[in-house]
Amino acid sequence: MAKSVVAGLDRILTMELVRVTERAAVAAARLRGRGDEMAADQVAVDAMRAELNRLAIKGTVVIGEGERDEAPMLYIGEEVGSGDGPEVDIALDPLEGTTICAKNLPNALAVIAIAEKGSLLFAPDVYMDKIAVGPGYPDGVIDIDATPEENIRSVAKAKGVPVSEVTACILDRPRHAKLIEAVRNTGAAIRLIGDGDVAGVIHTTDPDETGIDIYLGTGGAPEGVLAAAALRCTGGQMQGRLMLDTPEKVARAAKMGISDPDKVYRIEEMARGDVLFAATGVTDGNMLAGVKFGRNSITTDTIVLRSSSKTVREIKARHQDLDKF
Ligand code: FBP
Repeated sequence: MAKSVVAGLDRILTMELVRVTERAAVAAARLRGRGDEMAADQVAVDAMRAELNRLAIKGTVVIGEGERDEAPMLYIGEEVGSGDGPEVDIALDPLEGTTICAKNLPNALAVIAIAEKGSLLFAPDVYMDKIAVGPGYPDGVIDIDATPEENIRSVAKAKGVPVSEVTACILDRPRHAKLIEAVRNTGAAIRLIGDGDVAGVIHTTDPDETGIDIYLGTGGAPEGVLAAAALRCTGGQMQGRLMLDTPEKVARAAKMGISDPDKVYRIEEMARGDVLFAATGVTDGNMLAGVKFGRNSITTDTIVLRSSSKTVREIKARHQDLDKF
C-alpha cells in the first residue's frame, strides 16, 4: 500500500474501527424486533457518525447511506473524522439488514471499511451482480460470465467434493427464480437468505463454520463493495458488475467516473491497497453473536480484518460504562 497513508496509524485505526461498529450495533440492537426498519437504521447512523467523527482521519464516505439528495447523514461524499489524520476512503453501512433487525432474524451487522484515498470503488446505489468464493481456490475458479452450472461444478471440482456437497448462498428474491432453478438442477444446495448479502459473501470465507461455499446473485452495489473489502482481507475471490440498466443509472455512474457500464470489477478493483474492515453483530448470526444486554453490561462481538497482514481478529467486548451507549 499505501503504507504511506496509514503507516503508523493503521494499527491504531484497526482497533478504533471496532468502537465505531460496536456503537452502531448497540444502538440498532436496542430496536431489534420492533418492526421499525427506519428507526433502527437512524439510530445506527447517528451512533456511527458520532463515533467516526472522533477518529483522527480525514475521511470521505464513498459508500454510505445514499446519494447526497436522499441521505441527510453519512451520504456519499460526506467528510467525516476529526480532519487531522490520513486521507481515507470510507465504505459503511451502520445497519446492514434493516429488515433483519426489525424482525430480529439472523445476521444483521454494523459494517465499515477504510482504505487509502481513491482505493474503494466509488459506486452509485444500484444493484450489482455478484459472485464470490472464500480463500484456498485456484485463481479463476469463478467467472461471472459463466453459467451458474459451470461455476458450481468448478467450485465442486476445486474443492474435491461432489456437486451435491456444495452450498450456494442466494438472496430470496423473485428476480433470482432462474438462478435458483439452475443451481438446484446441478444437485447443489442453496441457503436462501431474506436479506444481508454482506454477511452472505463473508460466510464463504469459512465454509466449515457457515456451510456456505459460494455466493451468487444480485444485491446492492454498496454492499458489494463492503463485501469485497472484507474478502480482500481474508483472501477469496469476488467479481461484480453494476446493473446500469437505464440511461439514468448510466448517467449517475458516469458522474462518479464510471465510463464502461458493463465492466466486470474484480475484487482488487473494488477495494485496493491496504484495507481495514470491521463488522459487529447486531442480531445473532453464523459468524458473529448479536449484542447482548445484561443487567450491568453490554456484550458485543466484532470481527476486524486488515488486508496487508491478513489478520483476522474477533473481539468480544463487555462494556460496563453504560453511559457511553
Ligand atoms: P438494507 O440493510 O438496506 O435493508 O439492505 C439489505 C439487503 O438485503 C442487502 O444486504 C442487499 O444487498 C440488498 O438489501 C438487496 O436489495 P433488495 O432488497 O432490493 O433485493
